[in-house]
Amino acid sequence: MATHKLLLLPGDGIGTEIMVEVKKVIDWFNSQSSHSFELENDLVGGAAYDAHGEAITDAAMDLAQAADAIVFGAVGGPKWDTVPYDKRPEAGLLRLRKDLGLFANLRPAICYPALADASSLKRDIVEGLDILIVRELTGGVYFGEPKEIVTLENGEKRAVDTQLYTTGEIERIARVAFDMARTRSNKVSSSEKNNVMKSGVLWKQVVSDVHQAEYSDVELDHILADNCGMQLVRRPKQFDVIVCDNLFGDMLSDVAAMLTGSLGMLPSASLGEPDPATGKRKAMYEPVHGSAPDIAGQGLANPIAMIASLAMTMRYSLGMVEEATMVETAIANVLADGLRTGDIAGAGGNAVSTDEMGSAILSQIQKIAG
Ligand code: IPM
Ligand code: MG
Repeated sequence: MATHKLLLLPGDGIGTEIMVEVKKVIDWFNSQSSHSFELENDLVGGAAYDAHGEAITDAAMDLAQAADAIVFGAVGGPKWDTVPYDKRPEAGLLRLRKDLGLFANLRPAICYPALADASSLKRDIVEGLDILIVRELTGGVYFGEPKEIVTLENGEKRAVDTQLYTTGEIERIARVAFDMARTRSNKVSSSEKNNVMKSGVLWKQVVSDVHQAEYSDVELDHILADNCGMQLVRRPKQFDVIVCDNLFGDMLSDVAAMLTGSLGMLPSASLGEPDPATGKRKAMYEPVHGSAPDIAGQGLANPIAMIASLAMTMRYSLGMVEEATMVETAIANVLADGLRTGDIAGAGGNAVSTDEMGSAILSQIQKIAG
């Protein structure tokens, strides 16, 4: 029997509530299938800061290094607004990404037919939407040095962030995007700002070179990032795979997520380089949404993005493709049955709790399994 070592990092806010629903699903698979999960749990973000004075401990990082995959909830909240910058909740997430080398962030945006009316865009614009944002996750302006605020001689302050990319960083993320496109509709849109940024000039050049040398069977176009944002709300179905840097990917993926009706629906995967010996990639899976402190602790959170993140874990890290499809089908069925949490219920709609949604998805999984 295959055993999978998962590290669960629920984090803050609704992270802890939605992780409970993931555990229900894992526990059921543990009682059933030919696969078993070995779970470790630890703190990250504000929760880790409160307990240990760090956004993630070295011990938790060791568990992360040893796991087959990490399933991550969400971090942050107003409670930690005043903690030192290098100990803020988000620092735990950034350390995981950086230390594990999780350079490829896959953010699918799929519009479930049952939810097309929950989108802020008209049904015909979003119905059937299926795009994938491939965001570079360990480089660019989030990590580039210098990154500082200095005081000038005249007493003014000057803040600096550094946008920086090397050929190798762009090549490897471009390959992930082209590989993904080959499993989908075979089209990549590469997004940057080559009209004002040197990193954009290099990005465009390197993506074109990789395309020409290795992926000429895939359709490639280049689109300026501002135009890409506009096209995403104008005619999103023109896209298949969008590849972009860390900063643009952060913004464009939030836009794409909202097209689908709610941020509460979307999972993501962050993958490292394949290990030369085993072929396995370090990987972390998390919802695209944040910790939503405003609704935390009230049973209002939508657990779908979190449970769909478990499905992605099964698909991309554990070789459990059939089980992943079962989980995804269960989510679609529950939505088709009309079940909604508050974020997708619409005005006057009847909303179920986090726990009810999680249990309904589990029942569907059990039904599909027969
Ligand atoms: C995301 C989030 C993070 C990011 C924050 C929490 C650091 O917005 O995963 O998109 O900016 O990458
Ligand atoms: Mg973001």
